[in-house]
Amino acid sequence: MRVAILGLGLMGSAATRRLVESGFNVILWNRSLEKAEALAKDLGVEVAKSVAEAVGKVDAALAFLADDEALMTVASMIPRADGLVFSNFSTVTPRASVQVSEFLKARGVCYVETPVVGGPQVLREGKAVILVSGPIHCVRSVRGVLNALASEVFDVSEDIGKAAALKLAYNNLLITTVASLAESMVLAESYGVNVKMFFDILSKTMFKDIAERYYNRLAAEDAPLGFKLALAAKDLDYARRAAGDKGLTLFIASNAEQLYRIACTMGYGDKDYSRIYMFLKKARSYAGI
Ligand SMILES: NC(=O)c1ccc[n+]([C@@H]2O[C@H](COP(=O)([O-])OP(=O)(O)OC[C@H]3O[C@@H](n4cnc5c(N)ncnc54)[C@H](OP(=O)(O)O)[C@@H]3O)[C@@H](O)[C@H]2O)c1
Repeated sequence: MRVAILGLGLMGSAATRRLVESGFNVILWNRSLEKAEALAKDLGVEVAKSVAEAVGKVDAALAFLADDEALMTVASMIPRADGLVFSNFSTVTPRASVQVSEFLKARGVCYVETPVVGGPQVLREGKAVILVSGPIHCVRSVRGVLNALASEVFDVSEDIGKAAALKLAYNNLLITTVASLAESMVLAESYGVNVKMFFDILSKTMFKDIAERYYNRLAAEDAPLGFKLALAAKDLDYARRAAGDKGLTLFIASNAEQLYRIACTMGYGDKDYSRIYMFLKKARSYAGI
């Protein structure tokens, strides 16, 4: 099967490597062309200079784009392409997803939502969890791709918007939990308690898995980039907006989003989102305490 990969950031690059290893024939496109060229050279695959060129040569287009705006921009570059399936792996609002789906339908393209739970490393290993919404016959066309990238594929619904909403619900929980953990660490430390002791206690409780998973990532001086802090702030914003569309207010998400936004203004946006702990530690010293 031939697929175009649109967007070669952390997730798109990881997916590309996995799909090439799994025997897919890929063509790469990225807004900053040099990223596509470097990866294509490394893997010996083709680069497209435009979205139209990429999608003109394939059965399916796989999008790994930052946000709603990027998704809409890229979708608007797709010409009439009857029979093409557009599988969107990006985390976007349900509202944008529905809009793009309708826009593409008018161009003969079948849109499916395939947001990913798990970062670049798990995607690279084919162990992601993927949530799926979209018409069954279109999902069927990309089933092989999904199975190559994920150990679990959840068929959520045929209705566009539901997988996107579920992904935001998941990220709301994840990103607020990480912020909350970071705040608790700073609180314990402010009373002279070694943060390792805090984690030792957590590991004896229902928080065991979180402690084991996040202690090193949060406490390390320099954590490798897996998920940009600016995208974490974006996801809380999107969760809030998605809730707003249903008349709901997400109080915890709103506060956590403010925290991540402030960290972005202090230069943490392109760092791993676990750096929220380092930001909070520094924030304490900014306050002169
Ligand atoms: N990283 C994770 O752990 C993770 C996990 C699950 C889901 N996600 C979601 O997956 C998506 C991709 O994440 P990522 O970590 O790969 O992000 P990333 O490394 O920042 O890559 C973002 C990609 O979007 C492109 N892009 C941004 N704005 C654009 C625009 N206006 N027009 C066209 N292309 C644009 C970038 O192109 P340039 O290279 O030209 O900037 C790049 O290819 C996001 O929705 C994210 O929330 C991420």
